[in-house]
Amino acid sequence: MAPPQVQSEIERLRRELREHDRRYYVEDAPVISDTEYDRLLRRLKDLEARHPEAVTPDSPTQRVGGSAAADFSSVRHAAAMLSLDNVYGEDELREWHARLLKNLPPGEPPLFIIEPKIDGLSCALTYERGMLARAATRGDGETGEDVTGNARTIRSIPLRLTGPVPERLEIRGEIYISFADFAKVNADEAAAGREPFVNPRNCAAGSLRQKDPAVTAQRRLRFLAHSFGVWTGDAAVASESQFLAACAALGLQAVEHAAARSLDEVVRFYREFKEQRLPRLAYAVDGIVVKVDAYSQQSRLGFTAKSPRWAVAFKYPAQQASTVVERVEFSVGRTGVITPVAKVKPVFCAGVTISSVTLHNFAEIARLGLKVGDHVLIERAGEVIPKVVKAAAELRQGHERDVAPPRNCPACGSAVVKVEDAVAYRCVSPSCPAQLKRLLLHFASRPALDMQGLGEAAVDQLVESGRIRDVAGLYELRKEDLLKLELFADKRAENLLAQIQESRQKPLERLIFGLGIRQVGEKTAETLAQLYDLEGLASAELAALTRVPDVGPIVAASLCDFFHAPGTKKLIARLKAAGLNFQRSERKAAGAKLAGKTFVFTGELESMPREEAEEKVKALGGKASGSVSAKTAFVVAGAKAGSKLRQAAELGVPVLSEAEFLKLIQ
Ligand code: IVH
Repeated sequence: MAPPQVQSEIERLRRELREHDRRYYVEDAPVISDTEYDRLLRRLKDLEARHPEAVTPDSPTQRVGGSAAADFSSVRHAAAMLSLDNVYGEDELREWHARLLKNLPPGEPPLFIIEPKIDGLSCALTYERGMLARAATRGDGETGEDVTGNARTIRSIPLRLTGPVPERLEIRGEIYISFADFAKVNADEAAAGREPFVNPRNCAAGSLRQKDPAVTAQRRLRFLAHSFGVWTGDAAVASESQFLAACAALGLQAVEHAAARSLDEVVRFYREFKEQRLPRLAYAVDGIVVKVDAYSQQSRLGFTAKSPRWAVAFKYPAQQASTVVERVEFSVGRTGVITPVAKVKPVFCAGVTISSVTLHNFAEIARLGLKVGDHVLIERAGEVIPKVVKAAAELRQGHERDVAPPRNCPACGSAVVKVEDAVAYRCVSPSCPAQLKRLLLHFASRPALDMQGLGEAAVDQLVESGRIRDVAGLYELRKEDLLKLELFADKRAENLLAQIQESRQKPLERLIFGLGIRQVGEKTAETLAQLYDLEGLASAELAALTRVPDVGPIVAASLCDFFHAPGTKKLIARLKAAGLNFQRSERKAAGAKLAGKTFVFTGELESMPREEAEEKVKALGGKASGSVSAKTAFVVAGAKAGSKLRQAAELGVPVLSEAEFLKLIQ
């Protein structure tokens, strides 16, 4: 035990630090500077270092847990984490409202609570007797990932709750990063030669899934509570508004909220929020969430298979901004296709500064009638990359110029070829450095061979120094080679070499995908890897490939072109010599639950659109068909099912209700 006066100083410091966390994160009203806070924290660290027996897991010093590194094992949620249905306009909102009223007794008009829809990632925090025991991501809603070690570093997540707490409480909310912190992270990433994150949401997700909690700690993620999953004993709250109010007493910051008595009030809030709050918010919000306040009414309304009936997300449309096209550049993709990119005067839109907008292809430029120098309206929605919506011909002053496709490849200077329908132009030079760079980045990308140390800057240096001429060259790199490049110091070189080493064992589908064969995406690569080893695939006949499920004549031809191209044979031999995994992949056992079974859907399903049900069947290895035959395994009948039911009866095909179907695919 530390001497009593030391122990009491330790406890006083902890109390003070927790109180400052609360003022900062819950009340948004800090009373001391960051430097002062750090001084208190350092003093506590010193004392704990001298008296290790006094350290407790909930001490503010224990946010970056010593050995508790994130392992991301999977966690089954005690109650499923559902998502919200989206509506995009007032009409759709009114339809939702009408359905709601139908399911509530007349004379009990609901009170609504409105909250911003935070564009972060959802997280469930389990507190046992008030102590943070586990943090889990949403995952697929049933099972998420254990991110406790990293979540502990987020200062707005209390390590212990305050006030009277139930035995177990599972708080749900969003983890996000502010625009300002997002910009800082991206500046650091760029300085370190890594790819910047495309938006704050990806940045928050990437930061939460760091192997090293110390990295997460630097990213300044934040948490806002919006609901709970488990509350043992009698929940002390009977409505959403009571829950949100209770958060402060527990030491949690909850999402901001407002109440509305009618749908008109909801719509008014939606508009006012968009005009007055949204432009000033420090973090990304992509809509409002409208919830029925009283839990008694919520439970009467219940859930569909994937979302509650008592809540809805009323999304904001993509945000737009006006700017000017300064020039059009041409970027060369990994297959040589040349993409025109508009370089625009930097403009702030939906949370990020945009200076570059893809124009996709020359048909798009023609469709927009775009000229260099034009005023343009650009649009950006959440995840989506920005696009030009309109070129303002009426604002032209006469100096604007047409965009002509390049005659020569901007990277290697060789002549550009017009492809079939003249939408695309390609550089067909086999030694074009721009294509090689793109190919290496693709080869090293996460779904392919996953070498995170091989970012844009590293690829530039490796290609420009002539060190690497194709993907096999990666496996011939030695540490000395890397150290000669400006970017690589000791540690960084070792990291990359370790990732290259690991990539040798990756399953074949990733290698096939990584080779960057035109038309071959992840899904096709997976199918092929289950049927062939790499050498078998390289020598497969066109006719045989055409018979592979999901591989049509175009994909088959592209595979043959690739494997018969001069140089490919040698490349494959070098990859083999480098020890990459060429072996056929096992068929995945999971997912085969409905293998060989054909489903036919008829009528309207209540829980999901028909396309989604068909996707689910396919994901489990089954097939979906539009017509009933003797080979049909099941007909699934929704409301207003029609003639297919009769056909099923005639052919003796079993008919499932929607509930039976849901049970089957569970
Ligand atoms: S309530 C049954 N409130 O949006 C779902 N969710 O598609 C209850 N989200 O995964 C969630 N802001 O993580 C709720 N104020 C808010 C929210 C919010 C963002 C996320 C949530 C969920 C997704 C819904």
